[in-house]
Amino acid sequence: MKKLLTAAFIVATALCGTAEAAEIAVAANSTGKNLDFLRKMFAEFEEKTGHKVSLVTMPPSSSEQFAQYRLWLAAGNKDVDVYQTDVIWAPQLADQFIDLKEAASEVIDQFFPSIIESQTVEGRLVAMPMFTDAPALFYRKDLLEKHGKEVPKTWADMAAVAKEIQDKEREAGQKDLWGFVFQANAYEGLTCNALEWIKSSGGGQIVEPDGTISVNNEKAAAALDQAKSWIGTISPPGVLAYQEEESRGVWQTGNAVFMRNWPYAYALGNGEDSAVKGKFDVTTLPVAAAGDKPSSTLGGWNLAVSKYSEEQEASIELVKFLTSTESQKRRAIEQSQLPTLQALYDDPEIAEAHPFMPQWKPIFQDAVPRPSATTKVKYNEVSSRFWGAVHNTLSGSGTAAENLELLEIELNELMGSGW
Ligand code: GLC
Repeated sequence: MKKLLTAAFIVATALCGTAEAAEIAVAANSTGKNLDFLRKMFAEFEEKTGHKVSLVTMPPSSSEQFAQYRLWLAAGNKDVDVYQTDVIWAPQLADQFIDLKEAASEVIDQFFPSIIESQTVEGRLVAMPMFTDAPALFYRKDLLEKHGKEVPKTWADMAAVAKEIQDKEREAGQKDLWGFVFQANAYEGLTCNALEWIKSSGGGQIVEPDGTISVNNEKAAAALDQAKSWIGTISPPGVLAYQEEESRGVWQTGNAVFMRNWPYAYALGNGEDSAVKGKFDVTTLPVAAAGDKPSSTLGGWNLAVSKYSEEQEASIELVKFLTSTESQKRRAIEQSQLPTLQALYDDPEIAEAHPFMPQWKPIFQDAVPRPSATTKVKYNEVSSRFWGAVHNTLSGSGTAAENLELLEIELNELMGSGW
């Protein structure tokens, strides 16, 4: 009898366990090895909790991802529970996500307050920060040494060094070498790159924090003209279609002297299959004149729970797991992505794996935010008009001055009586 009862108990517990297990779908982008890493973390979470997690694979482009999310959320999609979200989206998607403030209350103080603030809209924490982002200038140590060059500090120096090394190496037989790769496709990444050129040249930040549209100015135009001069000289004409992964492809096969990219490219560049393993380092982005403050655009990715999800509790559990100290530490070491938890910048294992990482703390803290908090629900439009004007300039359709003048008119229309 006792045996029977025990068996019944076991069956009942198992059934009960199954009934409580949730199936959660997470939409996440496919840049670098993000999806492989997430799959590994999901397996651990499943083991720990009994829940099942599936991936909804999104394109690497932030802009394409945003367009898709917006459609799904507008339609009240119940199939996706958790969304990996870009740092700029919080004000635009806030209404579609649940408030995580209470769920995060025990850990919230461990995060950088500015990052928490970026994901807080009208007092609601709409997403939990998973990693932050601030780009670097990647440079080939071996090539700079070989040609007796210092690490460049200004855009002009960088272009000159890039050209000289490119020319000499091509003469010596490395025909496919380019001086500088970056992201000039017409998408959000170009907004980030161009904001860096403009801000570091004293040309403002497109729309200032007080709402003023500042982008139509001479310094901004000069910064865009300078970038235009790189196309076809130190940068391949194809850069006009490059996003992060295309630049990394050229870099990682050993075909670029310099690259502007986000920290994820560091671990991948040092991977076993990389032609530049051990041959490169990173530094802050160049500035207009020596002594100017570097201006990296602030990036970063978060996790939000859909208000249409039928598995909100389990989804919150997953979000907490993926943003925990343990998960962020692994992400830092394996993916070289910057933690959003303050203590991890003093972690000796992270510093050992990626010496640049502790040095990146002041850099992302000082990074320039895109005007998403200022232009709120209109940010995506602002950004797409901006990258459009920049892309036209770089591809020779209108001068920088003409395109910025037009952009100013468009942005004024978009703003109407206020942001
Ligand atoms: C990186 C940044 C993100 C940015 C994107 C642009 O992923 O983290 O904030 O929008 O690049 O391509």
